[in-house]
Amino acid sequence: MTYEYIITEVHEKVGLIRLNRPKALNALNSILMGELAIALETFDQAEEIGAMVITGDERAFAAGADIKEMSGKSSIDMLFRDSISSTWDRLRSIKKPIIAAVSGWCLGGGSELAMACDMIVASETAKFGQPEINLGILPGAGATQRIPRAVGKAIAMEMILNNRTLSAEEAYQFSLVNRVYPVESYLEKAIELAQEIAVRAPVAIRLAKEAINQSFETLLSEGVSDERRSFYLLFSTVDQKEGMEAFIEKREPQWKGK
Ligand code: CAA
Repeated sequence: MTYEYIITEVHEKVGLIRLNRPKALNALNSILMGELAIALETFDQAEEIGAMVITGDERAFAAGADIKEMSGKSSIDMLFRDSISSTWDRLRSIKKPIIAAVSGWCLGGGSELAMACDMIVASETAKFGQPEINLGILPGAGATQRIPRAVGKAIAMEMILNNRTLSAEEAYQFSLVNRVYPVESYLEKAIELAQEIAVRAPVAIRLAKEAINQSFETLLSEGVSDERRSFYLLFSTVDQKEGMEAFIEKREPQWKGK
C-alpha cells in the first residue's frame, strides 16, 4: 500500500514505520494518524513480523498534533469527530511490541505517541516535552496519565504546567526512555532491539505485553491473578514444551508461535 505521510519497510522480522512529513516536523495530522493505524494493524496481522519500530527523522520524531489543522476547530467539532479516540485507541489495541526510535523534537502528541509505544530508544539529541500549555490547551492523547506514571508527579507537573523539556539524558535518568545512543546509530539500535524481541516465543510475548500494560489499569490483586492465568495458559503451547526441552537439552529453542 502507498501512503502519503508514512513509509513502511520490513527489516527481517521487524516492521519499520517512518513518519514522513519532514517540512512540518512530522506533525501528526489526521491523514498521518490514520495511515499509522493502518500500517500498525497490517504489521500486527503479518505472520512474518514479530515487532515494530516507529521513527521520524533526525530533526524530529514528531512536533505534536498538527496545530494548523486544529486551530479553527470548536469543541463540538473536536467532540464529534473525536479523531483522538478513533485513531489512538487503534494504536492501543496492537498486540505485538512497538518501539519508538526518537531523535530531535518529540513534543505534544509526538511525545504521547512515543509513550504509547512499549519502549523508547532515543538519540542523544532527543528532546521530550508537552508544550500544549503554550497553546492554551492541555495534552489530549494521554500525557497527563502516562508522564506521571513514568517519571512521577513532580516532573510531570513541570513538563505539563510549565513546558519543561527533557533532554535524552534526563529522560533516561527519569526512566522515560530505555536507551540512549548517538544520533548516527539510534535507529539501527532500535531495530536491533526489536529484532531480538521479534524472534522470541510469540504467544508468550503477546501475553507478557498485555500483562505489563494491564498493571497500569488495574488493582495489583487482579493483575497478579490475570498474570497467573496467562502463565498457566502458556503451558498448553508447543513453545512452552520446546522452550523447556531446549533448556534441558542445552540447545537453542525453535519457536513455532503455537
Ligand atoms: N503543527 C503544525 N505545524 C508544525 C508543528 C505542529 N505541531 N510543529 C512545527 N510545525 C511546522 C512549522 O509551522 C513550520 O512550518 P512552516 O515552515 O510552514 O512555517 C515547520 O514545521 C518548521 O517548524 P519551525 O520553523 O517552527 O521550526 P523551529 O526549529 O524553529 O522550531 C519547534 C521547532 C520548537 C518544534 C517548533 O516548531 C514548535 O514549537 N512546534 C510546535 C510544538 C507544539 O506546540 N506541539 C504541541 C502540539 S498540540 C498537541 O500535540 C496536542 C495533543 O496533545 C494531541
